[in-house]
Amino acid sequence: MNNLQLKTTADGSSTIYHKELDEHYHSIHGALQESVHVFIKSGLNYFQNKYPFNKTINILEIGWGTGLNCILSILCKNPLNQIIEYSGIEPYPVNLDIIENLNFNFNEEEIKLFYKIHQLKWDEKHFINSCFQLTKHSKGFNNFKSSKTYDIVYFDAFAPKKQPSIWTSDVFTKLYEYLNTNGILVTYCAKGQVRRDLESVGFYVERLKGPPGKREMLRGIKIIKK
Ligand SMILES: C[S@@+](CC[C@H](N)C(=O)[O-])C[C@H]1O[C@@H](n2cnc3c(N)ncnc32)[C@H](O)[C@@H]1O
Repeated sequence: MNNLQLKTTADGSSTIYHKELDEHYHSIHGALQESVHVFIKSGLNYFQNKYPFNKTINILEIGWGTGLNCILSILCKNPLNQIIEYSGIEPYPVNLDIIENLNFNFNEEEIKLFYKIHQLKWDEKHFINSCFQLTKHSKGFNNFKSSKTYDIVYFDAFAPKKQPSIWTSDVFTKLYEYLNTNGILVTYCAKGQVRRDLESVGFYVERLKGPPGKREMLRGIKIIKK
């Protein structure tokens, strides 16, 4: 039995349905809209606007999945040519035959790029263009160790009720330690318990307007009080 099934979401873009978990990889109200709103606009664009003089922006994604957040980050406008170093963590890479059937409304060039990032070897650094470096880590965050620190965490794990083991204060503490001062964590999840847990490990948490179909999302900021 195939555990992963393609689905079309409300904005016409695809997602994957995980049968065993009874969970989608993205919002059924619009996969593309959700990624753009939560991770690109409230994450990468927010950080670029706030810190235009940072030469490098290090991004860590928990749950690389279809690579949608990654390709949107590559395609994102980068007027100051900041170098983006992107680390995606994924213990269960999606098969290429599913990837080839996803529709994110990309043009031909973008589709080629999308396949290219999926075909890249895992656990090696790749130079996608002069401003974008990508490493895909084939492991779970529980087994991930890094000597690097990060500016942005895209926290895109399955929902807390489906994968509670990754929405814990221990995981948030580890992420807080991996973040640079003023670094941010963005997630589509707006649950009160998640917000309180993020606050309890030190994040200043903002409740932001959510993507279509969701009232709110969260952005945690690592502010070091003087
Ligand atoms: C909500 S889906 C991913 C969405 C993904 N960002 C995308 O745009 O397709 C959650 C992802 O987290 C991955 N995952 C499961 N356990 C994980 C773990 N321990 N660490 C990191 N990722 C995990 C799943 O395999 C899945 O690809």
